Amino acid sequence: MAYNDFNMDSHWLPFTPNRQFRKEPRVFTGADGMVFTTHDGRKVVDGISSLWCVGAGHNRKPINEAIKKQLDTLDYATAFQASNDQAFKAAGMIAAMAPGDLNKVLFCNSGSEAADTSLKVALAYHRARGEGHRNVFIGREKGYHGVGFGGMSVGGIPANRKVFGPALLPRVDHLRFIHDPANAYIHNREPESQEDFLAELETRILPLHDPSNVAAIIVEPIAGSAGWYIPPKGYLKRLREICDKHGILLIFDEVITGFGRMGTNFGADFYDVVPDMLNFAKAVTNGVIPMGGVICRDRIYDQMMKTDAAEHIIEFFHGYTYSGHPVAAAAAIATLDLYQQENLFARAGEMGKVLGDAFHSTFKGLPNVIGIRSLGLAAAVELAPIAGSPGKRAFEIYLDCFRKGALVRPAGDVLVIAPPYIVEKQHIDTLVNTLADSVKAHA
Ligand SMILES: Cc1ncc(COP(=O)(O)O)c(C=O)c1O
Repeated sequence: MAYNDFNMDSHWLPFTPNRQFRKEPRVFTGADGMVFTTHDGRKVVDGISSLWCVGAGHNRKPINEAIKKQLDTLDYATAFQASNDQAFKAAGMIAAMAPGDLNKVLFCNSGSEAADTSLKVALAYHRARGEGHRNVFIGREKGYHGVGFGGMSVGGIPANRKVFGPALLPRVDHLRFIHDPANAYIHNREPESQEDFLAELETRILPLHDPSNVAAIIVEPIAGSAGWYIPPKGYLKRLREICDKHGILLIFDEVITGFGRMGTNFGADFYDVVPDMLNFAKAVTNGVIPMGGVICRDRIYDQMMKTDAAEHIIEFFHGYTYSGHPVAAAAAIATLDLYQQENLFARAGEMGKVLGDAFHSTFKGLPNVIGIRSLGLAAAVELAPIAGSPGKRAFEIYLDCFRKGALVRPAGDVLVIAPPYIVEKQHIDTLVNTLADSVKAHA
């Protein structure tokens, strides 16, 4: 049934060209499994897990039921000076899934909050150890860590620097981007690169700031929002070694790679590297209720508790009203149970290979295609930009796909497909073929 009875006077859409949107609204009114219903009664296949969130697919009864039950039991309770039973249970499950001694979970409500929380933990931890001078952060070019000032500062998104640059944190530097044009085609594997993307960290960036001043390095294991850029083999292991050598904390922003996208619990498991902090959000609740968090190694928490301050003094002066919200925590518990019961992370790994094969066999040689990258359950096709109008080609292709019933994600001149883990081969075929037709039509 078509639903058109909404007016667009009040809702200012985030990260959206609003002027274009008003001419051609794209409004969802329902979703089930892999498929949305739109306001004008059309079906659209969710090719991006609704911003990398909906691993188990839409409208999953066990999650919905858990939320309803929680609302009737404990709807909300203060997060400060007291807590709720669901938050403890969810934290325990998350800690049990995390590798190594990543055992202490600080909840928040989004990936942006997780980024800022992790940076604040880094400063507080070093200060607690008597190294308060460690206050330099290192991020990476094209890194995305959300929209808070901390996350934007360590992020490497030019549009953020253009508009918000003057308000960003001062003591921040950036690793170079990890893309090697010689590795434009990456097919279900970690690329090998002749380029040493970390050389300048040791030869220039750390000497410039003095390593003893550096609090933390934060990276996404795979650069997700930028367009699924995959680090060369050994990159994250070496980054871990460099951080260890200089007493620098390593933060993995796993808001996209966490909870199954790589076919493993976390990107840290996929790459066999344990960071000091691991940021998560999105898929932890299947996207159904906002939740984010930072998983910290035991030694960070232990250090923060090792204080001479009186017992009524708060050890870490940070938190959100909705940290560990009971309804979000109930959603997380049900989601993580469901992922396990249906073995959905392994399925994501298997379907990732199918998706990667489809990308490479379909897009190679199509007009304007200059790269294809697949690993985990996500794949990207990179297109040559229209001269003078970067991003226009991919955006128009995105619109065209939407009209034809496929939700794909434009990122600059890259188009990404990252479906829910329940995806079937037929959905992959629909998504990839729709995208391919559109790429040809926009030659
Ligand atoms: C790696 C990463 N960090 C942080 C964020 C920000 O998350 P949120 O939009 O929930 O604030 C995102 C969002 O896509 C992300 O991909």
